[in-house]
Amino acid sequence: MAVKGIVFVKFNEFIEELWGEEFWDTLLDEANLPSEGIYTTVGTYDDEELFTLVGLVVEKQNISAKDAQFAFGKWVFKELFNAAPAGAHDFKDVFEFLHAVQDFIHVEVKKLNPDALLPEFEFLSETPTTLTFHYQSPRKLCYFCEGIVYGLAEHTEQKIAVSQIECEHRGDQRCVLEVVKV
Ligand code: HEM
Repeated sequence: MAVKGIVFVKFNEFIEELWGEEFWDTLLDEANLPSEGIYTTVGTYDDEELFTLVGLVVEKQNISAKDAQFAFGKWVFKELFNAAPAGAHDFKDVFEFLHAVQDFIHVEVKKLNPDALLPEFEFLSETPTTLTFHYQSPRKLCYFCEGIVYGLAEHTEQKIAVSQIECEHRGDQRCVLEVVKV
């Protein structure tokens, strides 16, 4: 499966911001990637390259894959937001925004980049303070998704807690994220 270049370009920026250019170069040396790590936002690259790079970060920085994905997701929200299609900037509430991602934002992204592979959110329950949704993607990046939701809440200046009441990585059938306004 292929990932749009923007994810790679942003991952590169994220790593350099945290650990510097030299660390990124060390990763590329060791990863031996088909693309050689020369990423552009208009390109499309193999999913596996991202997983290889994340794997090396986990090994070298002694953090869990979960923490690495989460931190990248939290960081990348503002970058996605800045690149978002027209009309995506008017939502002021986390829950409203999450619905908009499923109903409109990712739909527009897909129209602009037909080869983009986007997750599906199936909303399961909602009260004024708690929203649950099923995160569905062959990529199984649920921790990344949790991180993006936190990044979104920073943007809307709302205090939230995100957890997974079901998670494939814990042996459940699916991943269900619960977002609580605290
Ligand atoms: C700010 C507006 C947003 C824009 C413009 C946007 C755009 C994108 C783009 C371009 C990708 C990469 C697709 C590919 O590589 O093929 C992506 C992936 C993803 N997005 Fe969004 N996104 C936005 C908001 C969100 C939010 C708020 C969430 C969290 C609920 C989210 C969850 C994800 C996840 C988890 C992926 C990884 C792919 C996967 O899981 O299969 N996005 N998005």
